[in-house]
Amino acid sequence: MPAIWVITRYDDVVSVLKDPRFSKDYIHKYPWIPPSIRAMFRNLLTIDPPDHTRLRSLVQKAFTPRLIEGLRGRIQGICDDLLDRDGDVIDLIEAYALPVPLILISDLLGVPVNDRRRFGPWTKKVAAAGASASLGGFLRALPALARLARYIRGLVTQRRASPQDDLITALVRAEESEDRLTEDEIVSMVILLLLAGYETTVHLIATGALTLMQHPEQRTRMQETPELRVSAIDEILRYASPVEFATPRITLEDVTIGLTTIPRG
Ligand code: HEM
Repeated sequence: MPAIWVITRYDDVVSVLKDPRFSKDYIHKYPWIPPSIRAMFRNLLTIDPPDHTRLRSLVQKAFTPRLIEGLRGRIQGICDDLLDRDGDVIDLIEAYALPVPLILISDLLGVPVNDRRRFGPWTKKVAAAGASASLGGFLRALPALARLARYIRGLVTQRRASPQDDLITALVRAEESEDRLTEDEIVSMVILLLLAGYETTVHLIATGALTLMQHPEQRTRMQETPELRVSAIDEILRYASPVEFATPRITLEDVTIGLTTIPRG
């Protein structure tokens, strides 16, 4: 097990995130992972420029502030619909936190409505593998990852035959043009977006609600002053972090931060 450093000061973190001496390309270091599975883990979270830049530019267009702002009405509609369903008492996770991001990210990607229920169990297992520190946890999640990958490959084939106005079609078009995107890269990207856009937001809604229940005076303040909501969400992200793991970086050479030198590797 290599030594691990945790960098916590804001300025240090910002500089490390931009420093090309830190690499995220480490998945190739695990030769025991079968090549087909390793391909699924090669995505924006595990590659460096120039591949990162190439893949990032393909999806970036779908997430500009203007386009996301354009989704406000649709998002409000999804939230209102879910909250208007029967009963004064709901299970926040099942009835609200899970469906909001799942419906939205599936809309963006172009996952058919009838298939969406199948994702829950798969994505949960795959996300748990990402967060798991144990090899056992990782191995247990492989069948779910394989099923998810097979399903997405099927969608890619469908979109190739009949294009739609969605992100999977946009990626298929990029594959066919000079952007040189491979089918493995498309499948891995779709899995990343599903997981990144899904689990994170579920946890943010859940930990946010819990935090406000544990701090009723903050909740009252926020209810009385609606302008505080935006900064409240930022503060909840910081305070009750919905992502409890980091994607590690590996030093490509010795790097000195403050008084500490982190050796290469
Ligand atoms: C509360 C919500 C979210 C949190 C807390 C969160 C957190 C994170 C974190 C910690 C990283 C890793 C950064 C790194 O180590 O380099 C990341 C990367 C990423 N997230 Fe999120 N995320 C959230 C929502 C989303 C959503 C809604 C999407 C897309 C639909 C998304 C897509 C991505 C992608 C594509 C990356 C990789 C970016 C890159 O390397 O270029 N995330 N996110």
